[in-house]
Order: sequence, then structure tokens, then C-alpha cells
Amino acid sequence: MDAYFTQFSGAIWWPMAYDLPLGEKQHFAKLKREAQTKRALFYIDKIDAPHVFPHAGPPAFYDDQLFSFNAKGQNDEAIFTDQVEFLNELKAARPDIKSHNFMPGTVVDINNGEVKVSQTLYTEDEITAIFDDKWGYFEMQRVERQVDLAEDRKKWATPASPEATLAEIKAWWEPLMKRAPLLCDGIGAMVKFTIGELEIVADFPKSEVRKYDDEAVRYWFDIPAELVATNLRDREIDWSNSIFLSVRFTAGRIGKFNEYLYTFMKCLSEQRIDYVQNWYESQSDDGQDVRLGDWLVQRRCPHLRADLSQAGSVEDGILTCSLHDWKFDLATGRCLTTQGHEIRASKI
Ligand code: FES
Repeated sequence: MDAYFTQFSGAIWWPMAYDLPLGEKQHFAKLKREAQTKRALFYIDKIDAPHVFPHAGPPAFYDDQLFSFNAKGQNDEAIFTDQVEFLNELKAARPDIKSHNFMPGTVVDINNGEVKVSQTLYTEDEITAIFDDKWGYFEMQRVERQVDLAEDRKKWATPASPEATLAEIKAWWEPLMKRAPLLCDGIGAMVKFTIGELEIVADFPKSEVRKYDDEAVRYWFDIPAELVATNLRDREIDWSNSIFLSVRFTAGRIGKFNEYLYTFMKCLSEQRIDYVQNWYESQSDDGQDVRLGDWLVQRRCPHLRADLSQAGSVEDGILTCSLHDWKFDLATGRCLTTQGHEIRASKI
């Protein structure tokens, strides 16, 4: 490998969208930024290319309600490390690697192991100015992009009545819930959705969607009615992409992150939900073991089947899978990152 192009920044709504006190958001955001850097370094080491180009991120937010989520956040509650920050971390951690700022206008010429990098859009001074006065740059972009944002908002649908919205979601989701008992078991709780004035509950143990009736729920979302109406109109099957990644919502939960719930929200079609149901049936454990230190552990990560002989590391009885940084307590088999997903392990 001559050059490695790697994601280094986040593409997720945690913890910004969550119903948490600011101090906790700041704490979780810091942990998330550190985990992202660690993950990028892990792959950089694995690929072992002499040249590294951090790319794919960070996102930018120019809507007034979202503006504070740029970079590390106006209140230090966001997770979006920028190129220059990551390059500095990389230089400190792996001084021998030749790392390059990869941004619009960068041209990379790779020829028989020789790597040449040039920049066709910006001068050095302009690039320095962008990163030195990042919030000034965001502000300039925010003003310029308002026209595009207004145009985009015109494409949003007008919400139907609360009754019609409930009926439409019920008719769509309930048959999907019934097709995916393993997914519903994994969620194993009621989820409240506040959509404008409408409050509904998706009761996964009963595979039912109904009006919310002051019940105790474990997870909750508050999504603008226009966004839900748009996704209903477009019959969008991946609300994780079309709503959650926009960070135009708030969420809360009791307990840990529930992978199954977000999987449901990105599989809102028969084809996808069947695939997921089959996948959960077949996944997790193919019976093979690997040795990691003093432990014999199932080879496949219970999350997305990463090969733990490559992606797993054990410290003090805690296994970390570097693919998504999930952690497992090997003595009990418990996943420390989310509900379910037990791991098979025994001490040698
Ligand atoms: S595959 Fe995602 S954490 Fe292991």
C-alpha cells in the first residue's frame, strides 16, 4: 500500500442529540472523539502505508438550530474532530508516517510508490485561515448557505393530521415488527415518538404501534412533524440516514444504547427486515474460537462479526473490538456497550 485514505471524524448523533445534562454530553463527546482517533490509528497501523490522508469528515451544520454542533461544539459537546486536529494527533502518535491534509482541491498523484500532493483551490494562507479561525469560517458559510437550506426546506412535506400520521405509521411498521421477532426481542421495550403534537408508542414486545398513554418507556424520540411527514411521503426505508444523521431530533433512553432499535429504524421495508431477521438468526457464533491472551473467545464479534483474532484486544478481562469499539466483560460474557450481544469466552 502506498497511501491510505481513512475516516477519522464522527458521523453519528451521539451525544449531541441526547437528552443529557451538558456536563455529561461534554464527557461523552470527549470519550467519543478519543475512541474515533483510536480507531483511525488502529487501521493506520494495520494498513501500514507510508502516506496517510485523513478524509470523510467532519460534517458541517449551517441550520441555526444545529450550528452549535460544528467541530467540538460551541459548548464542547460535539464529536467532529477536523483534519488539522487529527493530523496533529497523528504526527504526535506516529511521527514516521507522512500525513497530508486532504480537502477540496487536493490532488494526489501516486506513481510507482511516489506520492505527490498539490492543492488547486486554496493557497496555504487560505487553508491556515480556515482552520485558525474555524468559527469565523463556519459563520461565513452559515450566511452563504441559508438560500440552499431554505430551498431544501421547501421540499419538506406538510404534516397530515395526528390521527392520519398515526394510522400511516401503524400500517407501515406493525407488519414489519411481526416479521422480525428477534429484532423486537432485542429492543424488548416500548419506544415513544413525539411527532409535533402527536405522541405514539411503538410497543416492540407486542409488535404494536398506538397512541401514547402515559406509559413508562425505555427509549424516546422527538422528531419534527415535517420531517416525519417527508419520510412518510417518500416512503423512506432508512430513517437513520434520513432523520438521525441530520441531528434534527432529540432522543433519550434509560440504560444502554440499543443496537436493535436503530437497526429497525434503518430497515423499514420487508426486504431489509427479512434480511436482518435472517442475519440475526445466523450470526454471532460460528462455533470457532480464538485465543486472546489468557482467554479463549468466540472468533466472531457478536456485533457485526468482525474477526476478533484481528480486531480484538483484551485488557483486565475486558475485550475491545476495534471495529466499533464495543466492549465485553469476558468473565460474564456481558456486552458493556449495549443490550444483549453476549460473548462466549472462557479463561485458559
Ligand atoms: S464488529 Fe462492531 S464492535 Fe465488533
